[in-house]
Amino acid sequence: MTDIDTVAALIKSGRINRVVVLVGAGISTTAGIPDFRSPNTGIYERLKPLNLPYPEAIFHINYFQHTPEPFYAIARARHPRTLKPTITHAFLALLAKKNLLYFLFTQNIDGLEHDAGVPEDKILNAHGSWQTQRCWKCETPYPDDLMKQAIAKGVVPYCQVPDCGGAVKPDVVFFGESLPAEFDQQQKKVPEADLMLVMGTSLKVAPCSVLPRQVHLGVPRVLINRETAGDFGKRPEDVCILKNCDEGVHELADVLGWADEMGQLWRDAVARKEEVQEDWGEEESLDELIDKYAKKVKNSRNISDGHKRMLEEHLGQKFAGILAPGK
Ligand code: OAD
Repeated sequence: MTDIDTVAALIKSGRINRVVVLVGAGISTTAGIPDFRSPNTGIYERLKPLNLPYPEAIFHINYFQHTPEPFYAIARARHPRTLKPTITHAFLALLAKKNLLYFLFTQNIDGLEHDAGVPEDKILNAHGSWQTQRCWKCETPYPDDLMKQAIAKGVVPYCQVPDCGGAVKPDVVFFGESLPAEFDQQQKKVPEADLMLVMGTSLKVAPCSVLPRQVHLGVPRVLINRETAGDFGKRPEDVCILKNCDEGVHELADVLGWADEMGQLWRDAVARKEEVQEDWGEEESLDELIDKYAKKVKNSRNISDGHKRMLEEHLGQKFAGILAPGK
């Protein structure tokens, strides 16, 4: 019996009704958005030309507060307007349609779970989304149309409140910020799961990384990921399917007899997204945007060495705490 057969047999047994899912950047890589930590292809390695104090600084609130430019320089390449749901997103929508999805925690900010048809009340965007934005300083909301223009041009939008001057930030959770208040409430659902499915995440960032450990002992935990993650494999009931998510869910859907239904959900979701696509002018790749900004910074030398050292010291301490494994 393969691992896929094991999972399919569990689902077919009829004893599984409450699947709690946790997903990360790996479920959206085939939609064209790079993950964070994969060697060579992950965004953190590709940010090297920017000479950030730490790669994660670009998504750290303390850094953003005085240097929001790098974030906006690449924001366009991370904004989900042109992204289409993957087959893995369609699989999640199918789980919901079959009343098996108890709850979905996503660390992604691309909204593709919603685009694929997973009901809003079953999703927690644990790291926020691009849908709304506000000034980091006075928290005044900022108009959508101006935000789109700023992202499209790669320029920093600033608060419109007189004398405030704070940079506007999408309502995504940066390092150093709290998760939505709803997280504490929704995480109570994890111990109620009769199966936990984890896909496309390195489980390196707390607090989402601790969710799989909150599943009761004896309850099956299934990982579909290119590599092993967290404490997966330590429990006898763990199933680790180490392959691409789309491939894993395809195989699972085949064995379950769900392939046609999943394919249809995926095609419908893609068509819906194509209908609402906006033209933001000429597209530039992530690497082109990084290069462009790196050249600009080099020429203007607008960050002094002393300032860089200050950032390194300050953010170094912060990251030591935030990224500590197991936190
Ligand atoms: P990571 O980049 O840390 O991990 C992605 C995982 O998905 C890795 O284990 C990859 O091997 C795997 N992977 C990539 N593509 C895959 C594919 N097609 N099929 C299967 N596996 C694949 O991303 P996350 O775990 O989501 O937070 O990162 C968590 C948080 O760290 C993010 O939400 C973000 C980041 O810094 C903030 O910015 C606050």
